[in-house]
Amino acid sequence: MKDTLSIALTKGRILADTLPLLKAAGIVPAEDATKTRKLQVDTNQEGTKLLLVRASDVPAYVEYGGADVGVTGKDVLLEHTGDRIYEPLDLGLGRCQLVLAGKPGANPDAAGRLRVATKYPEVTRRFFAGRGKQVEVIKLYGSMELAPLTGMADLIVDIVETGSTLKANGLVVLEPIAEVSARLIVNRASMKMKHRKIHKLVDQLKIALGKK
Ligand code: PRP
Repeated sequence: MKDTLSIALTKGRILADTLPLLKAAGIVPAEDATKTRKLQVDTNQEGTKLLLVRASDVPAYVEYGGADVGVTGKDVLLEHTGDRIYEPLDLGLGRCQLVLAGKPGANPDAAGRLRVATKYPEVTRRFFAGRGKQVEVIKLYGSMELAPLTGMADLIVDIVETGSTLKANGLVVLEPIAEVSARLIVNRASMKMKHRKIHKLVDQLKIALGKK
C-alpha cells in the first residue's frame, strides 16, 4: 500500500481549477472527473486515484484515512473540529471571505441573545465566544441570506465571493471573519508512511503555483 495515493477532491467549482494543477504535478485522471458518475477515478499514475466526495466530507476522509490527501476550502477546515490533519499548502483557488452579515445597521453587539443562521455553527460559536457573547445558532444548508429577510435570524455567517448575493437581498457585510481559499490537506499517518510520494506531490504543486 506504500505506493498508492488517494486524493479526495470535491465536485463543483474547485474541481475544474484543481485538475490543471494536478496535471502540472503530473497527475491526469483516466476519465473526465467533472463528468463521470464514478466516485473513484484512476489516473495516469499507477496506484494514484482520485476520490470525488462532498466538500464538507473531505476533512473526514483525510482524517480517518479514507484518503491520503485532499483539497478543500479553508471554510470547511475551520468548521471541522478534528486535529489529525496537516495543511501544508494554500492552493490559492476559490478565494472568498467568510463574513458576518445582516441588514444594514444590524448590531452584532446588541444586548440580548442574537440568532445567527449559518452553514458554519462551529465557526459562528467560536467567533462570538471570542467576544464574550453567546448566540443562538440556526444551522442551515444553503440560501442563508433568506434568514434575516424573513426575520428568522438577526445575522448570518456565510461565504462572500463577489458580494452580489448579499446585495441582491439587501444585506451587507458587518465584519470579516476569515480569508478562504482551497488548501491541500494530508493525513498524518500517510505523511509518515508515504512521505516521499506526498513530499513530491507538494513540491510539484508548489512549482505549478510558482511558489518554488
Ligand atoms: C454561496 C454563498 C452565498 C454565495 C456568495 O452560495 O452561500 O450565497 O455563494 O457568492 P457571491 O458573493 O458571489 O454572491 P452557493 O452558491 O455556494 O449556494 P448555497 O447557498 O446553496 O450554499
